[in-house]
Amino acid sequence: MSKLTILDHPLLKHKLSIIRDKDTGTNEFRKIVTEISQLMCYEVCRDLELEEFELETPLETTTGYRLAGKKLGLVPILRAGLGMVDGMLSLIPSAKVGHIGMYRDHDTLKPVPYYAKLPNDVEERNIFVLDPMLATGGSSLDAIQELKDQGCKSIRLICIVGAPEGVKAVQEAHPDVDIYLAALDRELNDLAYILPGLGDAGDRLFGTK
Ligand code: PRP
Ligand code: URA
Repeated sequence: MSKLTILDHPLLKHKLSIIRDKDTGTNEFRKIVTEISQLMCYEVCRDLELEEFELETPLETTTGYRLAGKKLGLVPILRAGLGMVDGMLSLIPSAKVGHIGMYRDHDTLKPVPYYAKLPNDVEERNIFVLDPMLATGGSSLDAIQELKDQGCKSIRLICIVGAPEGVKAVQEAHPDVDIYLAALDRELNDLAYILPGLGDAGDRLFGTK
């Protein structure tokens, strides 16, 4: 079974409440999603490998540390995953960024893929899949499968809000993929929107409603 980590931090709870609020406008929504992504990145990277090296401070020689092991890759699921990229890159600027495009068909609620462009060496990287919403899990499942089909062996799924249904679907299909959430919400409604949720993340980020 993959690990589910719900990041429990007062700053995350505070900021998440701002984007849940229906009166928060696009500008503020986008800014807070960036800040939440930055805070999440800090926690998701907690167990990354380090190597030691010797460095000179202005006063003496000491041990320095730098990230080692696999290089990082970010793969936002379009559209809403795009909102998480800048916050992540602000802390891990050398990560390469791939894109997977899919939208949920409003009738079937199944994801419809329309785009995929990944770094050439994606199979050698530690990949963070980014999507603010994990609802039925259909979009994340397809994105993870696409990455595995391209040879990826190390994948983490980072979503801001998740529903129990989506978490279960990912854990069952991909027990090797750890999931990170800022909140695990109650349930899905009849249209597979997360409750209490924050509405349609793509529309709220890009002002398309
Ligand atoms: C939203 C969201 C996820 C997906 C989650 O995207 O950003 O990708 O729904 O739902 P699921 O877990 O049931 O698949 P949407 O389909 O609205 O596309 P958009 O980002 O282009 O608006
Ligand atoms: N996609 C969203 O953007 N919001 C939800 O609540 C569910 C899927």
